[in-house]
Amino acid sequence: MSGDASTVHTDGIPPDALSKVQEYLEPFHLSVEKLREVSARLRKDLVRGLGKHSHHKAPVKMLPTFVRATPDGTEKGDFLALDLGGTNFRVLHVRVVEEEQKVLKMDSQICAIPKEMMLGPGVQLFDHIAACLNDFLVSQNLKGQTLPLGFTFSFPCEQKEIDKSILIRWTKGFNCSGVEGEDVVKLLKEAIHRRGDYDIGSVAMVNDTVGTMMSCGYRDQSCEIGMIIGTGTNACYMEEIKNVRRVEGEDGRMCINTEWGGFGDDGCLKDIRTEFDVVVDETSINPGIHNFEKMISGMYLGEIVRLLLVRLTENKLLFEGRTSEALLTPDAFETKFMSEIEERDGGLENTQNILTELGLKWDSVDSRIVRLVCNAVSSRSARLCGAALATLANRIRVNRRLDHLKTTVGVDGTVYKKHPNFSEELRATVRLLAPDCDITFLVSEDGSGKGAAMVTAVAQRLAHQTQN
Ligand code: GLC
Repeated sequence: MSGDASTVHTDGIPPDALSKVQEYLEPFHLSVEKLREVSARLRKDLVRGLGKHSHHKAPVKMLPTFVRATPDGTEKGDFLALDLGGTNFRVLHVRVVEEEQKVLKMDSQICAIPKEMMLGPGVQLFDHIAACLNDFLVSQNLKGQTLPLGFTFSFPCEQKEIDKSILIRWTKGFNCSGVEGEDVVKLLKEAIHRRGDYDIGSVAMVNDTVGTMMSCGYRDQSCEIGMIIGTGTNACYMEEIKNVRRVEGEDGRMCINTEWGGFGDDGCLKDIRTEFDVVVDETSINPGIHNFEKMISGMYLGEIVRLLLVRLTENKLLFEGRTSEALLTPDAFETKFMSEIEERDGGLENTQNILTELGLKWDSVDSRIVRLVCNAVSSRSARLCGAALATLANRIRVNRRLDHLKTTVGVDGTVYKKHPNFSEELRATVRLLAPDCDITFLVSEDGSGKGAAMVTAVAQRLAHQTQN
């Protein structure tokens, strides 16, 4: 499967150097057998996370989302959406138009979240969010209306209801004090009330995976999985309620936010973690947490590559043994470089420009080795993600006692969207590990923002249906 890609990538590297470099890259090449094992471990962890008594200690949290239905195409109305989960925060005005079965983004605004704020007091973060929302309402002439609001908050939350959501812990570089263990909706409302100059309608809390599934679900009603491979990685899917032991009820389904980033936090992936993964984890702001995510997502891939390049240089396999200040600086090798480096046409030229930017003296063999390293790291990421997705698809198929499952996955995230061979390699892995599942991939545009509005719209539709 990766055969073609790696042959291309080894071209032009002398056999002697190649075999030495391959020694370092070997632990990144996971066999299909190994991937099957990983998938089997995750399968067990999904069950642990769903269990009434086992979920407290489960590394894969399997969080109920209180989203009980995907869109049926009759939803409509105007909504506000907030989207917080990476380095930016976004406010959107979204219109769901039933006649056209479309979710329209009327307008949106991005507010940067300064790094200090990501690590400062929570009150300051929520005041900033409330201020950005105010500016947006003013600019859109919406102040005075109380529109329902969907809040995409892409961190693990223990949801009690659709509008009550307790942050379990921060991930992806955030660490604001006073938020873990608190209800995020309450913190948002308090910040708005502190200002006292506007109000909001009913609130629905959503993880970005759920938003992605729901926004794709308006276009394709068989969309029952949402997956993100961006700064972080995660997926949600529709589970039978009777299997969700923490929630009352026997009939119907509920969307479960797996938080698969935490897979391996109990040490079960020890055999596939490399020494470089260990360093990335230990030097992160949350050591021991989200091990799977740290092998896969955009926040970490570049750093894994950098550590490998430093090691190869120290062992005289690159740049005649000479590093540079930039190469020795944590996080200086950005994940987006990998996409540029691995581009099919022009990849080598991009590599050379990037190496020059990083202050390195390279020759043509160096640039080919760097490309090979990037390929090993991105390929492992895609295959691990593929194995995890296959596990979910297989679970849905078995849940429904089907011989064959046809389903759609809504996907978002820069790694999936921007990397040249990531999606292809991920799909190939899913085909191998879930041969009885026929999966359509729908790339979501603006999913987490539009999806939050969609969740609010579906909740309103269901409320209307029960009233009538
Ligand atoms: C992290 C968060 C999770 C989110 C994912 C993708 O894993 O914990 O909630 O869905 O990143 O953004």
